[in-house]
Amino acid sequence: MKNKIKLLTVIGARPQIIKAAGLSRAILKSYSDRIQEVILHTGQHYDTNMSAVFFEELGIPTPDINLNVGSASHGKQTAMMIEGIEKVLLETTFDGIVLYGDTNSTLAGAIAASKLGVPVFHIEAGLRSFNKTMPEEINRIHTDHVSTLLFCPTEQAIKNLVQEGFKLNNLAPYHINNPKVIHSGDIMYDNTLYFGEIAEKKYQTIANLPIKEMDYVLCTVHRNQNTDNLEKLTAILKALLTIAESTPVIFPVHPRTAKKIEELLSAEWKLKLKQTNLHLIPPVSFLEMNLLEKYCRLVLTDSGGVQKESYFWKKSCIILRPETEWVELVENGYAHIADTDTEKIVSLFNTLRNEVKQEYKPLYGNGKAGEFMLSEIEALL
Ligand code: UD1
Ligand code: UDP
Repeated sequence: MKNKIKLLTVIGARPQIIKAAGLSRAILKSYSDRIQEVILHTGQHYDTNMSAVFFEELGIPTPDINLNVGSASHGKQTAMMIEGIEKVLLETTFDGIVLYGDTNSTLAGAIAASKLGVPVFHIEAGLRSFNKTMPEEINRIHTDHVSTLLFCPTEQAIKNLVQEGFKLNNLAPYHINNPKVIHSGDIMYDNTLYFGEIAEKKYQTIANLPIKEMDYVLCTVHRNQNTDNLEKLTAILKALLTIAESTPVIFPVHPRTAKKIEELLSAEWKLKLKQTNLHLIPPVSFLEMNLLEKYCRLVLTDSGGVQKESYFWKKSCIILRPETEWVELVENGYAHIADTDTEKIVSLFNTLRNEVKQEYKPLYGNGKAGEFMLSEIEALL
């Protein structure tokens, strides 16, 4: 009998933990007799509401290994992860490593595995902002270029890879020098479909807020370009305060942002943020987040994941960045780029607040990306 395929899944940051739920679920449902998944948590995110809450709520297997690296500078954090992942790969033979997205945990997995000849399977391959001042852009370019299977969520991601020299007509056997670029759809669409229904059953109130349907806007901000720059941070907050004059704003605050608000803002600003219509709350669980997205009027965000979830829930999105990797959202009029321009954010809010789009064409696959990716991994090994 053929041995089970043994995969090492590396996660570390909030969105990766959530994405990994999709693949783990597909393994348990259809592949548990053929694929064994070992989960390694780098420890990049460690607060209960940035990590543990997702394992409990989304039914993800407890990580077999936790490197507990915690927060540090990019070099130090990534180096500690590489060392830890390399040790695991040297101790146990794996058929491949599964990496998600574009964080330092992704890059560390890519470097450790590729140098040991372990095939890299990159989920969310090919995304580009074409802005190399973003740490994520550097992480994703490096990861893609040492991958064997590149699972692209969108047509645009495929085009981006072709522009960088990837070929779409490579034939098996696939390996680091002859990779396979695959249009897989987006595993987060699988997750929204699956957990969206469960969310409704689990929560009667969200984060203990007296929320009325369509009566509030949802905001998240965590990009270092926005949080670590006082001018940009206050430009966003000014817009939120203006919006809050007419509409409640619910803002689950990422720990990076909470830290910067505490460090950079004056006492006067901190007082302004106590405005009753502006709800700065701790990060919420994924199920709660889905409900917040489902029932809000619209979304303001600099998050990659939240931009797409706005579309999944048919909500207009104002992007608090100068560009996006998810260009199809903007091209189809589902999302709008405002960067940190206070006036533009407020004027987009005024235009979009009453707009209800009927037509949301499918952009991210059929909700079965996880199972499809596993079939490709099985075919390779
Ligand atoms: C990371 C990813 C980013 C992703 C985001 C998702 C990189 C380079 N960045 O950004 O791509 O969009 O995760 O949320 O990998 N902190 C805590 N508790 C935690 C985690 C972080 O307090 O559990 C604070 C620490 O002060 C830390 C800061 O947040 O220094 C930033 O954390 P870090 O993981 O370095 O980057 P993120 O901004 O979270
Ligand atoms: N999210 C969450 N709770 C929150 C904020 C976000 O569960 O308080 C989820 C969100 O629904 C999405 C993911 O976290 O699935 C996005 O992660 P984040 O914005 O941290 O990172 P990015 O997607 O920008 O890399």
